[in-house]
Amino acid sequence: MPPTRVAVLTSGGDAPGMNAAIRAVVRAGEARQIEVYAVRDGFSGLIAGRFERLGVRDVGGIIDRSGTVLGSTRCEDMRTAGGQASAAEQLAARGIEALVVIGGNGSQAGALALAQRGVAVAGIASTIDNDLPGTDVSIGAATAVDVALEAIDRLRVTAASHKRVFLVEVMGRDTGHLALAAGLAGGAEAIVLPERPQEPEMVAATLLAGYARGKRHAIVVVAEGAGSGARGLAEHFDSHRQRLGFEWRITVLGHVQRGGTPNAADRMLATRLGAAAVDALGAGQAGVLLGIVDGRIAATPLAAVAARRKPLDAQLLELAGLVSR
Ligand code: F6P
Repeated sequence: MPPTRVAVLTSGGDAPGMNAAIRAVVRAGEARQIEVYAVRDGFSGLIAGRFERLGVRDVGGIIDRSGTVLGSTRCEDMRTAGGQASAAEQLAARGIEALVVIGGNGSQAGALALAQRGVAVAGIASTIDNDLPGTDVSIGAATAVDVALEAIDRLRVTAASHKRVFLVEVMGRDTGHLALAAGLAGGAEAIVLPERPQEPEMVAATLLAGYARGKRHAIVVVAEGAGSGARGLAEHFDSHRQRLGFEWRITVLGHVQRGGTPNAADRMLATRLGAAAVDALGAGQAGVLLGIVDGRIAATPLAAVAARRKPLDAQLLELAGLVSR
């Protein structure tokens, strides 16, 4: 039997495009005679029972808005058996048969816990970190790269004027997907990733070789999870200032990357995945993460994706090494 009531929540770090996904869940649900309920503030709101009925007009005018209109939290309680039991009870008490969880790997671990308690759950891959297995790209990643690129392009201008090195730290927690994409598209001279640790001296040698070839600027994209991030590199450069002979500056992009207006790719992806989640639940397919693989919607068991990390694309890594001359 397809569900008649479905709840939707956003969880973990907000990502541009989450609102477009919420909109798609509500509208696809309504089109299939499913009542959709919003859960406020992620799993914390679920445990506390903060539900609200959402109709098609309630999600008007949000497709272009960053963040999440439902609110989001990182919910420690959801890691406990007690929290998970309360979450499942809150749904059951309202006759809500299924739940859509829009979020990254921590959030999908929460989704899996509920699935294991018998709740019909569909996850939607959404994190700027783009590190979820089961999808080539997750909601928010493309816009976050755009934001990083805008910063890198501007920094290159001032770097070249002063012949300086800029260390640009990007988010990504303990993975380098965002940094690799930003570095590749931003034409970085070096990209430092948690998956590919580089000695600071190696990075310095790369930059000096570039200056020797006539470059006037050097951009190093550093993933926040690579060693101690940009500051770790800067400390090394500082203690060898005389020998290295270049000036450096640090820009930490931080949460700025989460606030970009969702670009076309993210709005499309979010709309497709939102509708796909409703379709999956309607077809009795639960306990899965909806993502995109080779351009097509893919449903992967939550057990295979939750709390796991997608490996970096080896071809992109090779390409980055090839073109950063
Ligand atoms: O997972 C998304 C992300 O932005 C990571 O890139 C970053 O490490 C983390 O969230 C920051 O978390 P918070 O918003 O809790 O500071």
